[in-house]
Amino acid sequence: MRKLIVAGNWKMNTTVPEGVALAKAVAEKAAEVPANVQLIVAPPHTHLVSVAEALKGSKVALSAQNCADHDKGAYTGEISVGMLVSAACEYTILGHSERRQYYGETDAKLVDKVRLALDAGLKVILCVGENLDEREAGKHFEVVTAQTVNVLSHFSAGDMAKIVIAYEPVWAIGTGKTATAEQAEEIHACIRKVLADQFGAKVADDTTILYGGSCKPSNAKELFAQPDIDGGLIGGAALKAEDFIEIAKSF
Ligand code: PGA
Repeated sequence: MRKLIVAGNWKMNTTVPEGVALAKAVAEKAAEVPANVQLIVAPPHTHLVSVAEALKGSKVALSAQNCADHDKGAYTGEISVGMLVSAACEYTILGHSERRQYYGETDAKLVDKVRLALDAGLKVILCVGENLDEREAGKHFEVVTAQTVNVLSHFSAGDMAKIVIAYEPVWAIGTGKTATAEQAEEIHACIRKVLADQFGAKVADDTTILYGGSCKPSNAKELFAQPDIDGGLIGGAALKAEDFIEIAKSF
């Protein structure tokens, strides 16, 4: 059985004290969430050590939002996978559309980052998703398939045990627009087919595929009821502990 996951991507929000308070509130409420649902929070890098402390003893795992594409050295402003592991991170998000759109994250760079993360013992939440022009041109299956294959063709079936995929239609992120459950499900099923073609049915069946893009308490139930949607990568709604927990109770 694949893991159900609800992960909160805090993006560039909260100060350290605000982040610690949010993490504590999530940790306190985590007991309300079914035991088979893994909760993850991904605060900004500056918060990791303090948030790790706040989460101690809870079932909430810690994730980074990005990592460097080199393991160490003269790369001013970057954060290495070794640093993330030493700050008690278990996961890192990679390839978020905001990184692709604003910071030149390419599939080739992602291959290096995923490799570094896995070698360091981190699990990866790999994001894929089409933008509005691509969807309107009817290219969404093609774009998502290419993004998935371009990165994952460099990895093995064994590596997939440490990789979660997040489908995030760019046009639905932070816009209040959500993909309908049907729109999300057909892309999730497509991603699972891509995984089956590359790694076989068992790996495809065991891989967690999350939905992201204006997922909130009011629509999570319908989304999570789809056969190929195994949880969510939550942005805005993850900044309120009650909403985040409510989403995680929606399976
Ligand atoms: P959103 O962000 O929930 O605010 O749309 C989702 C994401 O980018 O992870």
